[in-house]
Amino acid sequence: MPALVLLGAQWGDEGKGKATDLLGGSVDYVVRYQGGNNAGHTVVVGDQKYALHLLPSGILSPGCTPVIGNGVVVDPSVLLSELSGLNERGVDTSKLLISGNAHIITPYNVTVDKVTERFLGKRKIGTTGRGIGPTYADKINRVGIRVQDLYDESILQQKVEAALDVKNQLLTKLYNRRAIAVDQVVEELLGYAEQIKPFVADTVLVLNQALEDDKVVLFEGGQGTLLDIDHGTYPFVTSSNPTAGGACTGAGVGPTKINRVIGILKAYTTRVGSGPFPTELFDEDGEALRRIGGERGVTTGRDRRCGWFDAVIARYATRVNGLTDFFLTKLDVLTGWEQIPVCVAYEIDGRRVEELPYSQTDFHHAKPVYEMLPGWSEDISKAKSFSDLPKNAQAYVKALEEMSGAPISAIGVGPGRDETIEINSFI
Ligand code: GDP
Ligand code: IMO
Ligand code: MG
Repeated sequence: MPALVLLGAQWGDEGKGKATDLLGGSVDYVVRYQGGNNAGHTVVVGDQKYALHLLPSGILSPGCTPVIGNGVVVDPSVLLSELSGLNERGVDTSKLLISGNAHIITPYNVTVDKVTERFLGKRKIGTTGRGIGPTYADKINRVGIRVQDLYDESILQQKVEAALDVKNQLLTKLYNRRAIAVDQVVEELLGYAEQIKPFVADTVLVLNQALEDDKVVLFEGGQGTLLDIDHGTYPFVTSSNPTAGGACTGAGVGPTKINRVIGILKAYTTRVGSGPFPTELFDEDGEALRRIGGERGVTTGRDRRCGWFDAVIARYATRVNGLTDFFLTKLDVLTGWEQIPVCVAYEIDGRRVEELPYSQTDFHHAKPVYEMLPGWSEDISKAKSFSDLPKNAQAYVKALEEMSGAPISAIGVGPGRDETIEINSFI
């Protein structure tokens, strides 16, 4: 019953989509367990490039059943347009399963997300504006709308009424906006119901039966460890648990079933939105990483903030996720630097700190302590095995592995499926 979790070890955009797609050919189910269409996963297959937001990256592998678990928040309009976009490109999406317990991102959740950010002004989180936070807030406040509610009109009406009760007060009296009409929301949501119905399933039962039948199940995280609502750089985080434990709650599979937890780790660091980022660069090196790495958001088109590799964060990701392996991505982007700085510790108010400080104030004051590693200039994009890499690239990978606390089992040397060096097999 091999169950693998694949998740972001940094602030998202580590290359999870590519890694999931790569494994997609050998797994039976790929499951999203948290987040929603705030994710932007780029998958390159041959000369085709796909940008997925809500759908699991396994949707591009014909033998694989893609699953949207109970922990995900689903914007039905995005779901349907993503599906039809793929269908137009000849991708069969008929196997998709969606948990009836997944929560729906309603139009008013999107409005509240945008209005709240505007209200926060310079204290804003820099959200993707997709309604993620407000939808999870409704879930926790027990006024959320679930996928299954689309199939009971009177319940849906009551629930939307309850949800809008307080929100309309806020919108009109605090934010100076127009109230949102219950009937209009209900009508819009009911308009999606029939198209979504064929996909709705008891995904918890399906997945647990699959594991009992020795099927291979891959849980694909959105976002990353440092964006986790509990373990990330709160409040500059997303509103769900991308960390490994989230796979259990977000898919209804017990922790005893998980065999392997793979952290996707970029060979440098990026972040989108606000919040602390100790190794962030504001010079031409940062600009070069952004340009060579194509570091522009798939979802919002925002430039990503770029910086050197941070081993303190990688160690933290190993710990909070119980990582068994790393998949190191975008090593090719570092080609051409004479020396590559790697952050091995922080200096906080004159003290050297080896582990991520639990105090947010300390983290905001953390200054990177760098070790310089020798670079390489040879093109590595055609490397097929570890020994094909130049000696200095090998040494860079080995140094990162030692600092990060888990074996690096695969290395990305380009965006394509085949531009990967596999060291240890994952399945
Ligand atoms: P995700 O959100 O974690 O799935 O990552 P994104 O898709 O947002 O960003 C990763 C970007 O890097 C995408 O454009 C990928 O096509 C690309 N990518 C993934 N792995 C590699 C790699 O090893 N080398 C290079 N050059 N690009 C990669
Ligand atoms: P993938 O799956 C990078 C960031 C946003 C913002 C914060 C909260 O592609 O790695 P939200 O809309 O979730 O409430 O925004 O989280 N964020 C991401 N950053 N990659 C992502 O997804 C992200 N999803 C959300 O920029 O700072
Ligand atoms: Mg992304």
